[in-house]
Amino acid sequence: MTNPSALITGASRGIGYGIAHRLAERGYSLTIAARDTERLAAAATAMRAAGAPEVHEVAGDLADEGYLATLVNAHADNFGRMDVLVLNAGAGSAGELAEFHPKRFDKQVALNLRAPFVLLQEAIPLLRKAAAEDPVRGAKVLALASITGVYAEPELSAYGATKAALMSLIRSVNREEASKGIRATALAPAYVDTDMAEFKHEVIPPTEMISVADLVELADACLRLTARSTVQEIVVARSSSDGYRA
Ligand SMILES: NC(=O)c1ccc[n+]([C@@H]2O[C@H](COP(=O)([O-])OP(=O)(O)OC[C@H]3O[C@@H](n4cnc5c(N)ncnc54)[C@H](OP(=O)(O)O)[C@@H]3O)[C@@H](O)[C@H]2O)c1
Repeated sequence: MTNPSALITGASRGIGYGIAHRLAERGYSLTIAARDTERLAAAATAMRAAGAPEVHEVAGDLADEGYLATLVNAHADNFGRMDVLVLNAGAGSAGELAEFHPKRFDKQVALNLRAPFVLLQEAIPLLRKAAAEDPVRGAKVLALASITGVYAEPELSAYGATKAALMSLIRSVNREEASKGIRATALAPAYVDTDMAEFKHEVIPPTEMISVADLVELADACLRLTARSTVQEIVVARSSSDGYRA
């Protein structure tokens, strides 16, 4: 049987790096993406060392229209099918709704929602192909949403709205593609100890944030399930919070 392959956005650091590394250990061939070419090259080296038979880096900005098709086409050219798509890259900026500039909103929509939507459109034929070739495992989509997409967090209205919409998109993938063997999961964590959450360290120490390692375990479990079950979404709270706050 051919090695399974996965495409992971935002794989150069943080949660995406952790998930990509686990997939490498499991013998997946990878397409990894991020903007910073040097960091992406370093990540590729680490993925090869971890056991990925083949790793291709395709650097670019997911907010650039042309890049989205380029990224999926590169995966198609190298592997011919896609067993796993990890829609991980995302960003947020904080501010009260009453004063939030719509341009900042548009930026988050472009990266957190539009890019996953278009990537899914581009990738679905490849995911269907993988599912048809391996119906027991099927093909999997994993999206990094956020607890703010489920419970409103002050000053994260734009970010939370994009993540709520991303979770809706994942449910739609299951509704439309389940019969073709594709299973999709949204992981919706509170603050995770990565670069992205550094701005919050004065309020929440990193030791009280969710660890990347814990998210990798959840992601890995979802990706190892057979096609007979679908985990639609997982909300992960920080144990030191009331369970409803980021
Ligand atoms: N950390 C948290 O507290 C937290 C909580 C809940 C959900 N999440 C979600 O989890 C996901 C990963 O977060 P993280 O904490 O691991 O973030 P991170 O540490 O900031 O890493 C982000 C990754 O995405 C890439 N990236 C960022 N903007 C990009 C763009 N415009 N085009 C292409 N690649 C881009 C980055 O590489 P380059 O900068 O080189 O492009 C990097 O590889 C995000 O969707 C985030 O919203 C995070």
